[in-house]
Amino acid sequence: MVFPEYRPRRMRRNRQLRSLICETRVSVEQLVYPLFIMPGKKIKEPISSMPGVFRLSIDQLAAEAKELQKLGINHVLLFGLPAKKDPAGSGAFGRDGIVQLAIKELKNKAPDLMVTTDVCMCEYTSHGHCGIIVQGQVDNDATIEQLGRIALSHAEAGADIVAPSDMMDGRISEIRAALDENHFDQVPIMSYAVKYASAFYGPFRDAAACAPQEGDRQGYQMDPGNSREALREANLDIDEGADILMVKPAVAYLDIIKSLRDECDMPIAAYHVSGEYAMIKAAAANGWIDGDRVLHETILSIVRAGADIVITYGAKDMARMLRG
Ligand code: PBG
Repeated sequence: MVFPEYRPRRMRRNRQLRSLICETRVSVEQLVYPLFIMPGKKIKEPISSMPGVFRLSIDQLAAEAKELQKLGINHVLLFGLPAKKDPAGSGAFGRDGIVQLAIKELKNKAPDLMVTTDVCMCEYTSHGHCGIIVQGQVDNDATIEQLGRIALSHAEAGADIVAPSDMMDGRISEIRAALDENHFDQVPIMSYAVKYASAFYGPFRDAAACAPQEGDRQGYQMDPGNSREALREANLDIDEGADILMVKPAVAYLDIIKSLRDECDMPIAAYHVSGEYAMIKAAAANGWIDGDRVLHETILSIVRAGADIVITYGAKDMARMLRG
């Protein structure tokens, strides 16, 4: 195929021809929208670093669910902001915990909306780390026991999928066992299998007030320079029984999404994280980029790299764009 026999521009002449050979399409079915739940009543508090995203009280969830379902979005990912925090993060697994109550409300008011829960301790611990601290270190084995309890409490409240984001070793088997022993063998685990120690989580940590009080998360989250290690993490989670593997962040880690796509046959999710979203919104607010088009291109690229599922704060904007 040498010029002039093959002219790539022939198939780019109009929208219908381009669309005929379009290799990657995003569907609203792939999108997951994160929700931040806080105590109180009638609260819909804007998160300043994440324009368009709010902290909601439980009484706002029915209306939120309706809005999402109208847009065709079928999946949410819940984060809770508890009224109180303690060193053991005990607010994370109470029957009347903020997330547990939010799950019940959503399953009551919008049973078809699929509820995934973030299983982690950092929003609930006073020190802000994702686990229990023993002698100044996040103790792996004490933490995974707690994570099993948290995941079980979410399943008991009605969660459709649980998503551990802590990056402790062995937590998928621990959670799988806790669920299976209690007749929740049908609840899938979406593992934050490959989660990097990233500066792109900045706005989220403000939104959920969960920045570590001391130190950082490099002792458990991955080194951004490592890609072979991503496959080791993914394989461990497959062996332990994960149903979906997640890569996080997404945009700065498209090569990792691609290599997981090439090396394993599991469903892959990618988390287009707070900082990645905030950068688009900030540049758009300054008039430097077309925010809608950049968001669309970003999500398309995440899917092109190999993600089946995209968790994004831009899900509503994207759903509107997909409608045309
Ligand atoms: C909790 C958690 C974090 C995010 C999702 N779950 C924060 C962190 O690990 O520091 C980040 C999400 C985002 O930035 O949008 N462990």
